[in-house]
This record gives sequence, C-alpha cells and structure tokens, in this order.
Amino acid sequence: MTDERVDAATVAAGPSATTQYPVRVVVNGVEHRVMLDPRVTLLDLLREHLHLSGTKKGCDHGQCGACTVLVNGRRINSCLTFAVMHEGDEVVTIEGLGSPNSLHPLQAAFVERDGFQCGYCTPGQICSAVGMLAEAKAGWPSHATADVAAPEIVLTDAEMRERMSGNICRCAAYPNIIAAIGDVAEGTRR
Ligand code: FES
Ligand code: FES
Repeated sequence: MTDERVDAATVAAGPSATTQYPVRVVVNGVEHRVMLDPRVTLLDLLREHLHLSGTKKGCDHGQCGACTVLVNGRRINSCLTFAVMHEGDEVVTIEGLGSPNSLHPLQAAFVERDGFQCGYCTPGQICSAVGMLAEAKAGWPSHATADVAAPEIVLTDAEMRERMSGNICRCAAYPNIIAAIGDVAEGTRR
C-alpha cells in the first residue's frame, strides 16, 4: 500500500478511537475535566461520562427537545452539539435547577399542575421553559408576537406554545405544561 493510499484510508476512517481531546466544562456548578473523542455530543458527555441521566435522549436528531439543557444561560439541544465545543462553558441540567427538598419554581409548578405523565420529556420541558422565560423577559419576539416592537413580551398561551414548540410530549400533557409555565410566568411562585 502506498503512502498516498494509507493517508486516504486514514482520512476515510476519521479520527481513531484513541484520539482524545481535553475538555473543561462546569456542570451544575461543578468543574469537570475530561478527555473525549471529538465526536461525543454534549448529551452523551452528560449522560454517559458524567452520569447525569436527568437529561434525556429522545430522537438524537434535534427534533424532540428531550435533551434540552442550559449553556451559559441559553437553552440548546444537547444532542446537536459536540462536547469539545464547550470548553469553559457553564451547563445547567435538570439536576442543577432544584433538588427534591428544594424544587425550582417550574419543577414545583409541573408537579402541582400535573404537567407530566411518563415524565420522559419533562426535564427538557423544564430546562426549555427556564430558557424561554429568560428570552421573553429580555424582549426577544417569537413568531406568535403580535407587535415585535413592543417593549414587553406578554406571555399569552399562544406565545408560550410557540416558544415551547421545540419540545415534544408524546403523552400530550401540553395543556398542563402550559398551565405550569403560566403560573411561573405570572410570578405567582416568585
Ligand atoms: S434528543 Fe435532542 S432533540 Fe431529541
Ligand atoms: S410526559 Fe410523557 S412524553 Fe411528555
């Protein structure tokens, strides 16, 4: 085999299984330094390497929102981003939002409003809702915003449904999810 053919075969195979890169991420306030294959997604870093299984893998294709986490305060689909892209980033998962003895207001609202059935989508729904409320508070309009120049976003049911449309619930708990988020949006739990 010529050198040229060896190089072509190596390129076709992609990075070898032993090629690892150092990554430092802060997850729920705890710093982690790990060596990772560059193909490991943020979702798999959380679940498989850090054993934070609250974040769920639904479609693994950016279509269901079950894997939503907050990175530097913004919601993202963790299945669509490589962990090595997040050097130094601050990640918050459902485990970091609250604890069983001290629930985050959205976690408490989901319980009170019966906003889940099987619960598989719930961590992503709640992380997404945290991000969504921050986006609305910052004045970011959505496709459902009637007046995009308005200084304040009014979180109507239509606004919340549009802003949460990236999070699919196979149990169709949508009315209760919207009721739970609405409770927090109105400040009834602050
Ligand atoms: S698992 Fe990431 S969007 Fe479905
Ligand atoms: S509660 Fe079952 S998928 Fe949403």
